[in-house]
Amino acid sequence: MNLLRMSKPKLSGVLLSLCSVFFSCNDITFSKDIAPIIHQNCTPCHNPNGGAPFSLLTYHDVKKRAKMVAFVTQSRYMPPWPANPQYSHFINERVLSENDIQLIQDWYKSGSKSGDTSGLKTPDFPVYQSVLGKPDMVISLPPIAILPNQLDQFLTVKIPYQIDKERIVKAVEFIPGQKKVVHHFNGHYLGFNDLTNPFDGNRVASIESPNFVNEFAQLKLLNIDQTTPERIHSAVNYLPGSFGVKYPDGIGGFVLKKNGAFVGNDIHYGPSSKRLTDSSILYLYFTDKPIKRNTYELMLGTNGVSPIIPPLVVPPNKISNHVSEITIYNSISVLTINPHMHLIGKSFKAFAVKPNGDTIPLIEIPNWRFQWQYFYTFKKPVKIPKGSRIIVNASFDNTSANPNNPNKPPQMIAERLENGGASMRTTDEMLQFIITYMNYEDGDENISLEP
Ligand code: HEC
Repeated sequence: MNLLRMSKPKLSGVLLSLCSVFFSCNDITFSKDIAPIIHQNCTPCHNPNGGAPFSLLTYHDVKKRAKMVAFVTQSRYMPPWPANPQYSHFINERVLSENDIQLIQDWYKSGSKSGDTSGLKTPDFPVYQSVLGKPDMVISLPPIAILPNQLDQFLTVKIPYQIDKERIVKAVEFIPGQKKVVHHFNGHYLGFNDLTNPFDGNRVASIESPNFVNEFAQLKLLNIDQTTPERIHSAVNYLPGSFGVKYPDGIGGFVLKKNGAFVGNDIHYGPSSKRLTDSSILYLYFTDKPIKRNTYELMLGTNGVSPIIPPLVVPPNKISNHVSEITIYNSISVLTINPHMHLIGKSFKAFAVKPNGDTIPLIEIPNWRFQWQYFYTFKKPVKIPKGSRIIVNASFDNTSANPNNPNKPPQMIAERLENGGASMRTTDEMLQFIITYMNYEDGDENISLEP
């Protein structure tokens, strides 16, 4: 059973076309009407290097799948954007207008005409598989075998490097090798002292191994003198569909020491029926500009600073609601947010309530989509003043009506704590809200975070 599979819309039902009432459908062509919509909203993923399974770059590509394209856009299955665009806005937001959707319908209904494509510019899809462009340094993960056993696999991976002088890293992006099975990657940075050889120790340990603690030691994640190396938490994150984030100069980043390692803690592979070898890589982007503003992470819910109320235990055949909230005592400028749940997640909403009672909307996801867990970056930093409460409301659907329910029939699903942290198995649950922020300074509201 493929646990990661989304419930897909069925190609049934009647597609309504109104174009003939207002204008001739024959006027609608790929080159004039459809290409701009596709290139803006689809090609960033549907290109030969992108995360999607096929390319939607040329007329031929789109024509071949015109029926599917018409269907998935009308159902709003594509482009994947689980956040409610009525509630809050983010950079890289991809949401089709009603008009775009109707144009695609009418184009399809009227025979998917090409029009004159001679002057049509195909966009430069990211040659480096990255929206951030050419990296300054590339570090490879060790090749990892994915077994054809249809099980999730969780590993801790050490990715060492050595450089001749310290650099300031602006952004790190994880580029998945086997795109279809790499589910997520959460990486911390370790900066070792000069005496330590980062290449010492093993590269890979299994989180689910009974000897995990021992295997963790074998990765040699301490300095040679057993002191703790400098550590940057969540220096690089990847979830399906997510893109690298680079903030404006002066905001965020960290110092890359001469000896160091990224630790993929954890890398998660979804089930596979084929034996595969994954060779994922990390792209590093440097800057000469000093770091003026540090970024920090605040995590609510599972493994975080605020409890989940009531505790995250969802009995079979029940839909349950849970809240997690925290009051902040310093004003912050929120840059990026990441809501996280697993398979029985149903809806998610996060907002702040100021001391004067006003609400600051953060994000609303009416229909949770496990496969699309973006790091949502605001267009401009959002100020949350001191004394505000940050509140997360989430619901979970553990009924058989939820097509993603991993158990048939439904069984008790809970947040399971083990080894001092929560189980990240997709068949257990999590409720997490991760906020990347700066300490507030006057004028932060006016900084543009657009790439
Ligand atoms: C953020 C990346 C991304 C964007 C943007 C995106 N797609 Fe996709 N698309 C995917 C991935 C990944 C899959 C395969 C997984 C799935 O079906 O959910 C997919 C699947 C599809 C499928 C096949 C669905 C099926 O059931 O087999 C179609 C058709 C499609 N996309 C069309 C589009 C169109 C049209 C757009 C733009 C309007 C678009 N996509 C935008 C990533 C993307």
